[in-house]
Formats: sequence, C-alpha cells, structure tokens
Amino acid sequence: MQRITTSLDACRTDEQRNLLKLACSTALAAGQLIKERYDQPHDIQMKGAINLVTETDLAAESLILEQLARETPGIPVMAEESENSLNVRDQARYWVVDPLDGTTNFAHGVPHFAVSIALIEAGKPLVGAIYHPMLDELYFGAAGCGAWLNDRQIQVTQTDKPINALIATGFPYDIEHTIDRVIEQMQCVLPAVRDVRRAGAAALDLAFVACGRLDGFYEMNLQPWDTAAGWLLVLEAGGQLSDFSGNEYSPFMDQILASNGKLHAALQDLVR
Ligand code: IPD
Ligand code: CA
Ligand code: CA
Repeated sequence: MQRITTSLDACRTDEQRNLLKLACSTALAAGQLIKERYDQPHDIQMKGAINLVTETDLAAESLILEQLARETPGIPVMAEESENSLNVRDQARYWVVDPLDGTTNFAHGVPHFAVSIALIEAGKPLVGAIYHPMLDELYFGAAGCGAWLNDRQIQVTQTDKPINALIATGFPYDIEHTIDRVIEQMQCVLPAVRDVRRAGAAALDLAFVACGRLDGFYEMNLQPWDTAAGWLLVLEAGGQLSDFSGNEYSPFMDQILASNGKLHAALQDLVR
C-alpha cells in the first residue's frame, strides 16, 4: 500500500482514512484475481442480448463482498452481481461495487477493465477507488481531500474549447431502444470536438477525466456501480458532473455528463 501513503495523510478523519485504505486494498486484491484469470478460458453467461457476465466477475465480487463484510460488517453493499442490492440505497451509508467494469473487453481479451468501489454517505461519495489491473493503476480519492493516481495527485484538464477536447462515451446495453438518441448525440458531438473514444469501461472513462487524459465523458443508462467511484474522483480532481440538462449528478440518474468544468456548458449544449 506504499502508493497511498502520502494521500492518506490528506484524509480528514481516521475513519475516512481507514475506509479509503479498505477501498484501495480491496480493489487491488480483486484486480489481482482478475489479472490472473485474464488469459484463461472464460465461462460466459448472458444477462441480456449483449450484456455478459463471466465467472471472473462473480469471483471478484465474492472476494470484495467477503473483504468488506469482514472489515466493515455494519455497512451494506450494493454490488452489480448481487440481486436486489439496489435496495440498500435508503441506508445512511453503503458500499457501491462494480467487481469488473468492462466485462465485454475482459471476455474478448481487450486489456481495458477495472474494479470500482465507492462508499456513499448521506447521498454523497466519501471514498472511492478504481483499479486498472493490466496497467497497475490505482485511482482513488476521498471527499474534501483530493484524488490520486498511484502516488501522484491528479487534476482535470484546463481545455476550454470543445474543438481541443478528447471526449469519451459509451453505448447502452439496451441499444435497440436508444440507438436514435445515441446517433443524434454523436452527430452533434463528433464534429464539434477533437475526437470521441468508446473504450468500454465507464469507471475508467471517469478516472481518465479525473487524471486529465480525457476532457469529458457522457453516457446514458449507466448504473450506480459504474459511476459511484468515478463521480468522486472527477469532483476531487476539480471537474464537474451533471445530467444532460445540468442538474446536479447522482449515480441513480440515467444520464451522466462529466467534464473538466471549463467545457461543461458547451458539452451540455452538444449532448442535450
Ligand atoms: C459497462 C461498461 C461500459 C458501459 C456499459 C456498462 P460492465 O459495465 O462500463 O463502458 O458502456 O453501459 O454497463 O457491464 O462491463 O460492468
Ligand atoms: Ca460496469
Ligand atoms: Ca461489471
């Protein structure tokens, strides 16, 4: 845990420090498990026509649930592969877990996927960690304290014109219902920016906005586990999040627009 030592000093309370340490160590352990299985054949099940889950998603989630239950037995967990876990959203605090964000990439051998873990308290993110095992990059942050990539504090870009901006997006699994909107948005965004990426892991799209590799990101119909940790990272790195109409973001919304702040109004005009 060498890489998080300096940043831990920035935490406001011992409790926040311990929760951040736990989010980071758990994301690292699950990421290690995923990396070990990357080259192996996968058992792929379908959750929908194009929505996959592999044995590794399930194994990573079990590891995470065990570790969180052992260390914070009183805090419930909302996790992608656990049925009915969305119910915990009424609790004062809860963990939000995507054991493997970018499953389609993982299943096809594309080395771009991550573990995402956040703790929400009173509707706001308190700590968050996203781990990209193939790059050994740990992105993490704590509310009011900043965001880091390994041992380096990170910030969003200063890009202020869409034409100089690299933007990411993603395509919803229910694409047959959303295709018209997706194409319409792309028709507005693509000619107005430098380029658009669809890399296939929303948590990493947000982490990349936070660390300045991307200037903005938008997508429809994501789930809380896709965005909870990235939400915190973008905020702590000085960026901005909203829905497409500019309302304050919550991971229970079905639209997300994240940016460096300077581009937010312009991007909002493009995606609205
Ligand atoms: C998916 C990825 C993808 C996004 C999808 C998500 P999963 O998560 O984040 O980039 O476009 O909407 O559901 O299913 O790989 O955890
Ligand atoms: Ca996901
Ligand atoms: Ca997932």
